[in-house]
Amino acid sequence: MVMILGASMVLWILFAASQAFKLDISPQDKMIAQIGDSLSLTCNTTGCESPSFSWRTQIDSPLHGRTKIEGSKSVLIMDAVSSENEHSYLCTATCGSQKLEREIQVNVYSFPKDPEVQLSGPLEVGKPVMVKCLVPDVYPSDSLEVELFKGDHLLTTQMFLEAMEKKSLVTKSLEVTFTPGTDDIGKAFVCRARLHIDSVTKERETVEKLQVYISPKNTVISVYPSRRLQEGDAVMMTCSSEGLPAPEIFWSKKLDSGNLQLLSGNATLTLIAMRMEDSGIYVCEGVNLIGRDKAELELVVQEKQFTVDISPGPWVSAKIGDLVTLECSVDDCDSPTFSWRTETDSPPNGEVRNERAKSVLIIEHASFEDEHTYLVTVTCAGRKLEKTIHLEVYSFPKDPEIEMSGPLVHGTPVTINCTVPDVYPFNHLEIELLKEETMLMNKRFGEEMSTKSLETKSLEMTFIPTIEDTGKDLVCWAKLHNGELDSEPKQRQSTQTLYVNAAPREITIWVSPSPILYEGSPVNLTCSSDGFPAPKILWSRQLNNGELQPLSEDAMLTLTSTKTEDSGIYVCEGTDQMGTSKKLVELIIQASPKDIQLTAFPSESVKEGDTVIISCTCGNMPETWIILKKKAKTGDMVLKSVDGSYTILKAQLQDAGVYECESKTKVGSQLRSLTLDVKGRENKKVYISPELLALYCASSLIIPAIGMIIYFARKANMKGSYSLVEAQKSKV
Ligand SMILES: *[C@@H]1O[C@H](CO)[C@@H](O)[C@H](O)[C@H]1NC(C)=O
Ligand SMILES: *[C@@H]1O[C@H](CO)[C@@H](O)[C@H](O)[C@H]1NC(C)=O
Ligand SMILES: *[C@@H]1O[C@H](CO)[C@@H](O)[C@H](O)[C@H]1NC(C)=O
Ligand SMILES: *[C@@H]1O[C@H](CO)[C@@H](O)[C@H](O)[C@H]1NC(C)=O
Repeated sequence: MVMILGASMVLWILFAASQAFKLDISPQDKMIAQIGDSLSLTCNTTGCESPSFSWRTQIDSPLHGRTKIEGSKSVLIMDAVSSENEHSYLCTATCGSQKLEREIQVNVYSFPKDPEVQLSGPLEVGKPVMVKCLVPDVYPSDSLEVELFKGDHLLTTQMFLEAMEKKSLVTKSLEVTFTPGTDDIGKAFVCRARLHIDSVTKERETVEKLQVYISPKNTVISVYPSRRLQEGDAVMMTCSSEGLPAPEIFWSKKLDSGNLQLLSGNATLTLIAMRMEDSGIYVCEGVNLIGRDKAELELVVQEKQFTVDISPGPWVSAKIGDLVTLECSVDDCDSPTFSWRTETDSPPNGEVRNERAKSVLIIEHASFEDEHTYLVTVTCAGRKLEKTIHLEVYSFPKDPEIEMSGPLVHGTPVTINCTVPDVYPFNHLEIELLKEETMLMNKRFGEEMSTKSLETKSLEMTFIPTIEDTGKDLVCWAKLHNGELDSEPKQRQSTQTLYVNAAPREITIWVSPSPILYEGSPVNLTCSSDGFPAPKILWSRQLNNGELQPLSEDAMLTLTSTKTEDSGIYVCEGTDQMGTSKKLVELIIQASPKDIQLTAFPSESVKEGDTVIISCTCGNMPETWIILKKKAKTGDMVLKSVDGSYTILKAQLQDAGVYECESKTKVGSQLRSLTLDVKGRENKKVYISPELLALYCASSLIIPAIGMIIYFARKANMKGSYSLVEAQKSKV
C-alpha cells in the first residue's frame, strides 16, 4: 500500500509537472438523495485551460437538472430531486484531444414525515376501534417496514415487499382492531416505520397517547333540604356523574312542551325564594365527548300555610274574679281577620282587641258565665283556620279544715271531718285523708252538677286512735282537677298533729333504797305513770282512819331522816282528764333491836310440877325475828312459842337449863339468856317433852306476816318496785 501510494505520488508529481489533464466527480460513486431535496454533482478538472463538459444519463434519458460551468468545474444541480433523478450520471470532460469520463449513481427515496396514528373513532372502554398507522409519501415502498405497539406490546407489523409498478410516492398503512380497557388509560400507541435504502435504514416513529373515554353514567341528584318545599323556601340540588373525561353537568327544567330549558352549567343548582310555579321536573345531564347520561328530580313547591297560635293554651283554668286574657296570633299572613264566638255561637262577654297579627279576648272578672269553649276563626287571603280555647273557672280559696268530733282518746272512736269550703266545680274535687303516708280515705265528688255555685264539701271518717298515733300527722289533701286530664290538679292541704289522750294506766313506784329501813335513814319514793298527757302526780299518806293526807305533787317524795312513826302506807295518785290511778307502798321503819327481855314466871327457880312461862319481849320493834331456844350439849333446841311465850305446864327436872332468846335483824342479833332451876319433889317422876317452838315478838299484830313481807320485799326489790297491797293480795 505504501508502495502503491508511493508510486501514485510519483505519478501525480509527474502529471502535475506535465500539467496532466484530470477529472474528479463528487460526491464519489454513489449518492442517496431524498426526493424534494436539492442535489449537486460536481465535475472538476485539473491540468486544462478550458475544458468542455457534457452530462448524460446512462440510458440517455433527460437529465432533470441544470448544469453550470464554473472555470474548471461543471456542476449538475437537481433542485429538487425527483424520482426521475434516479440514474447513473456520466460526466464527460474534454480538453483538446483528451477526453475523460466519470460516473455517479444517484438513488432517490422519499420518507418525509413521521407516521400518523389514526383511529376509527374515540377510544371508549369496551368498544372495538380500528387503529391505523399510516406512513405517507414513501419511496421506494418495497423496502418499508412498519410496526405498531401499545406501550411495549407489539400489536402488528408488516413488511411492504410488493413490487412497485411505477416510480411514485405512495402512502402505506397498517391496521389493527383494538378494544380498549380501563387499564389502557395512560398508555400510548407507538408507530415505527423503517425504510431500507441500499445499506442505509431510515427510521421514523410517532408516539400517540391513548385517550381512553368513559361515557357518563351513574348520574345522581342530591337535594337539600327536601323535594317538598313551601313558597319562599330555598333548595339546593347537586348533581354528579361519572365518566372520562369528567362529564360536564348541565341543569335544565322540563317545560310543559316537553322541551328542556337550560338553567346552569354548574353541578350545584340553588334556587331561592321559590314560588309554586317552580314546581316541576328538573333534569341534570352529565356530558362528555362520547356520551351523556341524565337524571331527573321533581320538586313540589306548596303554598305557604299561615299558622295560628293560641295562648295560654287550649285549656285555660281561671280563678273566679281573675282577669283572663285569651290570645290568638297569626304567622305568615299579612292581614288576617279574627272572629270570636262561644260554642253556642254567641259573642263572648269580654272585650276583643285586634292588633295587626293578633287578637286578644279580655275578660275582666272571670265568672261562671264566662265558662265556655271559645272559637276563634282567622281568615287570611280567603282561607280560614279555627282554634278552640276551653275556659274553665274555678274557686278553691281556702285550705281544708280538719275538725274532730271530740278529743282523741286512746281506743275511743272519733269522727274526723275534713271540709273544703267554697269550691267550684265540686265535681272535680277530690279529698284525701292521710295519716302520715298512709291513705285513710279518699273521695271524688264526681256527681253531676246542676247549678253553677260555690259548694262546701267534706269528707267524714271515723277512726279509733291509739297512743301510738300521738305525734303523727293527719293530713287532709284537697285536689281540684282540671277538665284537661293530664295537667296537674290544684292542691291544698292541712295538717294536724295527733295527740291521743289516755288514762294513766299503770303507776309504778320505786323505793330507794328499800321500803324497810332503820330509823334515821333517808328514803326516796318515786312515782311514774304512762298516761298521755303526763298525769299529775300526788303523794299522800294513808291515815289510820283511811283518809289520805296529801304530801307532795312531785314525782319523788323524799324522807331525809325516817322515824319509826313514818312507817305506814303511802299512796301515789296519777290524775289526768281521763281519770285517776293509784298505787300504795308500805314503809316500815324499824327501831334498832334493843330492850329484849327474857323472863321466867313466876321465877327462875321452880319446883318440879310447877308451871313456868318463859317469855321474850322486844319493846315496840315491829320487825324482828325472835327465836327462843334451849341450850343443850347435843345442840340448841328451838322452842315453839305463842306470842313470844313458851309455857312449861309441869316443869320437869330436865326443863332446867339455859334458855336463850335471839332477836335477829339486818343489823345483827342480840341474845338474852336465863337459867331455869327446877328443884325435884320426892317420888315424883318427871316427864320431859321439850317442844320446838318459834317465838315471835308479841308486840306486833302483823308479826305472822312479817316473814312474808320480807319475802315479798326482796322479790319486789329485784323488780325495782314494791307494792305491799299487791303483795298482801297475792298472798291471800
Ligand atoms: C477538484 O476541485 C476540488 C476543490 O475545488 C479540489 O480539491 C480537487 O483536487 C479537484 N480535483 C481535481 C482532479 O483537480
Ligand atoms: C358553581 O357554583 C359554585 C358555588 O355556587 C361557584 O363557586 C362556582 O364558581 C360555580 N361554577 C361555575 C362554573 O359557574
Ligand atoms: C262535717 O262538716 C260539714 C261541713 O261543715 C258538716 O255539714 C257536717 O255535718 C260535719 N260532720 C261532722 C261529723 O262534723
Ligand atoms: C334520793 O334522790 C336524791 C335526788 O335524786 C339523791 O341525791 C339521793 O341520793 C337519793 N337518795 C336515796 C337514798 O336514793
